[in-house]
Amino acid sequence: MNQKADNNKIVIAIDGHSSCGKSTVAKQLAKQLKYIYLDSGAMYRAVTLFALRNQLAADGKVDEQGLIDRLEEIKIEFRFNEATKQNDTYLNGENVEDEIRQLPVANHVSPVATIREVRQAMVRQQQAMGKNKGIVMDGRDIGTVVFPDAELKIFMTASPEVRAQRRYDELTEKGKQVSFEEILKNVQDRDRIDSGRKESPLKQADDALILDNSTISREEQLKWVTKKVKEITED
Ligand code: CDP
Repeated sequence: MNQKADNNKIVIAIDGHSSCGKSTVAKQLAKQLKYIYLDSGAMYRAVTLFALRNQLAADGKVDEQGLIDRLEEIKIEFRFNEATKQNDTYLNGENVEDEIRQLPVANHVSPVATIREVRQAMVRQQQAMGKNKGIVMDGRDIGTVVFPDAELKIFMTASPEVRAQRRYDELTEKGKQVSFEEILKNVQDRDRIDSGRKESPLKQADDALILDNSTISREEQLKWVTKKVKEITED
């Protein structure tokens, strides 16, 4: 494991299956610890939106070489939103936070995230953003590839039905018309592609702690993770 930074800040890597609440815990933790929060999935989603808008993805298929050839045109940033007090994702200067959460992107993001060149470009940026520690990053390969030396690694999971229900509630609360079956299928498809891909597959790092939150509340899971952080930073 890495040495803690001088200011006692650490790197917290949260990986796990889609829609299991990684970002909820990561945001809560970052707020509490005054750390940076980085949603690595948003970066893959932004690349996917670029592909969809440029006819490089459609009907669940991606023109891999076409996208690789245009990777240099893609600039992803996070900017703080005063109204929501959260970071929004920007693609080439445009706020795409809402659009990247919709089903067309969700339905194409896993194939896009299998492309090695895409991953290399994203991982480079993620590592640069975490070099001073004091960061909570969530994704699929954070504890295995992006920050293999992270001081705290958590692997989150929950049953596919519980995850699909949460995503369904989240989208319908925002007034989106979606079907539960379609979301469950998306969750299951992404599990399969994310775990089965050759490039940085989703898997638990050997030294990650497992958090199955199928039956525990947000408050309970935050307590659990906070305790783990304290154990590391206060020893
Ligand atoms: O929020 P949710 O769990 O539904 O997904 P996300 O974190 O926004 O990630 C969307 C997709 O990006 C995942 O299904 C993966 O295919 C991909 N991803 C990845 O490959 N590596 C990461 N570090 C983060 C996301």
